[in-house]
Amino acid sequence: MSVYKEIKRVTTHVLSEMKLKGEKIAMLTSYDFSMAKLVDQAGIDIILVGDSASNVMAGNETTLPITLDQMIYHGKSVVRAVTRALVVVDMPFGTYQGNSLEALNSAIKIMKVTHADAVKVEGGKEIIESVERILSAGIPVMGHLGLMPQSINKYGTYTVRAKEEVEAQKLIEDALLLEAVGCFAIVLEKIPATLGAKVAQTLKIPVIGIGAGGEVDGQVLVLHDMLGITQTFSPRFLRRYLNLAEEIQGAVNNYVQDVKSKDFPNEKEQY
Ligand code: KIV
Repeated sequence: MSVYKEIKRVTTHVLSEMKLKGEKIAMLTSYDFSMAKLVDQAGIDIILVGDSASNVMAGNETTLPITLDQMIYHGKSVVRAVTRALVVVDMPFGTYQGNSLEALNSAIKIMKVTHADAVKVEGGKEIIESVERILSAGIPVMGHLGLMPQSINKYGTYTVRAKEEVEAQKLIEDALLLEAVGCFAIVLEKIPATLGAKVAQTLKIPVIGIGAGGEVDGQVLVLHDMLGITQTFSPRFLRRYLNLAEEIQGAVNNYVQDVKSKDFPNEKEQY
C-alpha cells in the first residue's frame, strides 16, 4: 500500500521522496476537466497535459501542430479539476527551441494562465539554455529524452531509440545535464529497458518511463490508449486496462436504437 496515498497534494518534493523510498510514481495524461477529475480522484501522482492532445484530441498525425494557446486551454481545463496530483503541461513544438527568452515567455504564459505546477520540454544539450532560463524564473521543468515525438520529422520513424551505443551515451549525458541544471524529473520514451534502468540508477531525480522498462522510478501512459479509446495505436509497451471504444460505441448504438424505436424517452423521462 502506498505511503503517499493520503497526502493532500503531490509536489516535486514528494516525488523526490518517493524515489528515495523506492515508491513507484504513477503518471497519466489528461486534456479535459471531466477526465482529469476522474484520474485525480483515482489517485494518480502526476497528470501530464501532454502535447499528445494534438493526436488524441485534435486528430493530427503528429504533436507538432498544437499551439501554445491550445495547450493553455487544455491545461486550464485540467487544473480546474485537480486537487491532489501534480499537473505538468507540455511546452508545444516551436515555443522553446528557438531562443531562451521565447522559451521563458512561453513557460511563464503557461504557468500564469493555467496555474499548472510545472512544464515539460523535449531534448537535452540542444535546449539547455532554454531549460536553465525557465528554471531561473522558478518554474519546475520536467525533461523528456529517448523518443521525442516533436522530432519525428528528424527520425522519420517511431521506432525504439538509443539502441546503439552512441545514442545511448548521448542520452545518459543529456539526462545528467538536465539533472545538473535543476530539472525535477525526466521522462524516457521508448528505449531499451537496460538503458532505462541505468539512467534511473545514475540519476537522483525521478525517471518516469513510457516503454523504458520496469526498473525506472515510475510509468506514464496516454490515458486514451490505456482506456482503449484509441484503437489503432498498439505499441508493445501499452497495456490496455479497458476496451472503452467498444463500451462507448455499444452505448451510443443502444441510444440510437432507443430514439428510433421511440423507446426513449419513456413516461418517467419527461415532464
Ligand atoms: O504528450 C505526451 O503524452 C507525452 C507522453 C507520451 C509522455 O509526452
